[in-house]
Amino acid sequence: MIFDTHAHYDSSQFDEDRDELLNSMSEQGVGTIVNVGASYQSCFTVPEMVQKYPFMYAAVGVHPDEVGDLNEETFARMKEQFQKEKVIAVGEIGLDYYWDNESHDLQKKWFIRQLELARELKLPVLIHSREAAADTMEIMKEYGQGLGGVIHCYSYSKEMAKEYVKMGYYIGIGGVVTFKNGRKLKEVAAEIPLASILLETDCPYLAPVPFRGKRNNSAYIKYVAEEIARIKGIDPETVIGQTEENARKMYGLA
Ligand code: NI
Repeated sequence: MIFDTHAHYDSSQFDEDRDELLNSMSEQGVGTIVNVGASYQSCFTVPEMVQKYPFMYAAVGVHPDEVGDLNEETFARMKEQFQKEKVIAVGEIGLDYYWDNESHDLQKKWFIRQLELARELKLPVLIHSREAAADTMEIMKEYGQGLGGVIHCYSYSKEMAKEYVKMGYYIGIGGVVTFKNGRKLKEVAAEIPLASILLETDCPYLAPVPFRGKRNNSAYIKYVAEEIARIKGIDPETVIGQTEENARKMYGLA
């Protein structure tokens, strides 16, 4: 079944129908969802939310746009969240020079601290990196070796994707691969072996064609699987099955 490795169902865009939507997932072919924290606040609400749904797990971490909320005290409080059941990864963490919400120095500082936290907790990392390819790679080489995890919503070159795969990381592919202007990501999907690809929505954002621009949800991953299957000349069921296996391995789920 479909494994959505990166979703944000805590978003207010799901307030109207969250329960109904999530309870319809299994009949739509979705078996597992990892809901990923982004804001400092979400580090507390997400672990709570996933307890309600047997097929959902949580990642806890602070997104680069939000690291202004971190200090030693709040970081310590965030760390306590990892004692909760079903918290299985550190994320999303990284660098975002597109929105440039926080200074690069502050982003780097908390990115490194959260990578060190993942090493201490022996958990995989979910990496967000936008327009920060070189700095992300530099930090990952120094602090991310051997951790395991995924470069989520991958947006860089196929050469760099191969480098991450060599370091033992997965490449997260979502709706963008179905976009007409998604040529670069289509090349990545062609080049990287299926054993190193994970499927994700990043919902409510980045819905695939034919729902581009609408609210995304995990059931739409089938369009992503179909596109990867087309690119690789295999069938969509193989893409769904293998990426589910990959995700279980990365997250340490039986
Ligand atoms: Ni995300």
